[in-house]
Amino acid sequence: MSNDRYLTFALAKGRLAEKTLELLEKIGITCEEMKDKGSRKLIFVNEERKLKFFLAKGPDVPTYVEYGAADIGVAGKDTILEENRRVYEVLDLGFGQCRMCVCGPEAARELLLHHERIRVASKYPVIARDYFYNKKHQTVDIIKLNGSVELGPIVGLSDVIVDIVETGSTLKENGLGVLEEICPLSARMIVNQVSMQMETERIREIITQLKEVCG
Ligand code: PRP
Repeated sequence: MSNDRYLTFALAKGRLAEKTLELLEKIGITCEEMKDKGSRKLIFVNEERKLKFFLAKGPDVPTYVEYGAADIGVAGKDTILEENRRVYEVLDLGFGQCRMCVCGPEAARELLLHHERIRVASKYPVIARDYFYNKKHQTVDIIKLNGSVELGPIVGLSDVIVDIVETGSTLKENGLGVLEEICPLSARMIVNQVSMQMETERIREIITQLKEVCG
């Protein structure tokens, strides 16, 4: 009975989706329709395997999965932590590796050491708040930005930033550095809690096969 039902994947648009599709191809799951770059379609179907795929904005992927609009999602750990949705995180896919860090000018190191009430700019206010309030027990003012967060300390908006560091070159080119590391990040597979129970076998099989190719 369960094989008549489509399993739906929500993928974070861009590099993560491309890498995910490469990985799925390795386990024999393909979606030819999706490779047509000119297409304006939003949802793609693999009739043979009864699978559907759609591309969404990264931060929306956990939302689609929590509400069951997608059974499975692939998103960055940063997004998963920030959105804090009720989903199961089942697999580290191993790509998209980077770090969530507190960054700033060297002079800001003192402010962190002495637990001063500093200003922290970030695209990730939930992660920043959790780190400073719950892990460091430091009261800070969090300022939400939507990108180019490195500007914060440069133009005097904030003392430090909480942001993703991959190669470190954005920081270096702007005279900033990593002051503290919060956590490692990478692409993760998440699953809707009800789907995990209703479609256990099919989902488990996908997880097992993916584990073999993404190690
Ligand atoms: C991300 C992140 C850093 C940069 C880190 O920004 O926010 O700015 O990449 O990469 P690096 O360590 O390799 O230099 P993104 O390019 O996503 O744009 P944004 O600043 O608009 O968020």
